[in-house]
Amino acid sequence: MPLLPFLRRATGVGVVVGTGMTAYAAWEARQYTLRRVTVPLLPTGHAPVKVLHLSDIHMAPDQRAKQEWLRGLGDLQPDLVVNTGDNLSHARSVEVVTDSLGGLLDVPGVYVLGSNDYWVPGVRNPLLYLLPDTGKRHTSGRQLPWPELKDRFNRAGWLDLTNGFGSLTIGGTSFAFAGVDDPHLRYDDLPRVAGPADADADVRLGVTHAPYLRVLDQFAADGYDAIIAGHTHGGQICLPGGRALTTNCDIEPARARGLHRHPADSAPGDPASAWLHVSAGLGTNPYVRIRVACRPEATLMTLVPVPD
Ligand SMILES: [Fe+2]
Repeated sequence: MPLLPFLRRATGVGVVVGTGMTAYAAWEARQYTLRRVTVPLLPTGHAPVKVLHLSDIHMAPDQRAKQEWLRGLGDLQPDLVVNTGDNLSHARSVEVVTDSLGGLLDVPGVYVLGSNDYWVPGVRNPLLYLLPDTGKRHTSGRQLPWPELKDRFNRAGWLDLTNGFGSLTIGGTSFAFAGVDDPHLRYDDLPRVAGPADADADVRLGVTHAPYLRVLDQFAADGYDAIIAGHTHGGQICLPGGRALTTNCDIEPARARGLHRHPADSAPGDPASAWLHVSAGLGTNPYVRIRVACRPEATLMTLVPVPD
């Protein structure tokens, strides 16, 4: 075939394939999925505790399907909600988020915020999701109404773990929490939450938006049984089979989502080690609403006793 017609045909095929892939990725970004994991960390004899982990909702007012799906999570009747931030994507999203959470705000909860609660997100080249973190932070634009969001969560009784501590007793199991402000923005104040976790509590949980290693190392060394985080979007644009290429922070892609240990090669019972649960989250940057091999998710973590 002469060169010019060949190039025209090849370009046409490329456009069709590219358009199809983009359409698929936009469809996948709306395939909200509930993932379930079991975490053995309760003392012997304690009843299981259902923890709903929500992260990276990135709500925009026009995302009706996401709002409807979130409303349905109340049917799970969790005992505790852990929200690891990035709830907002729009200045008018606070009301939408709290309406969508609905009855979940009546459940005991704890939260920390992420960069996309504080700052209006910028337009982002989707290919940047595949590249290492540049260190640049989007903190010079307009702020989102995060004080209003915190006020709504606080009035619901959720505990604010922003560089602080909290405690709750749920069904006879006592929880001690520590949390940090978003490490991605370097807002974390680790010295403020340093020190041995409460040995009198039945369960000790560390909570952070982004799973930076400095935060994971401290919580694990201080004796927290599990660390709960979001931020990574699970890699967002993954290889087939869900293999992440990037995490947008310094944790390695193999732990971009799901239940792992920290340090990664530790076993339960090892000193200075903890469970680590990272959520792939429910949203995306509002200007790049695509996901590939990484469906948006919430997780129902069932805490059960450590096996004898
Ligand atoms: Fe996020």
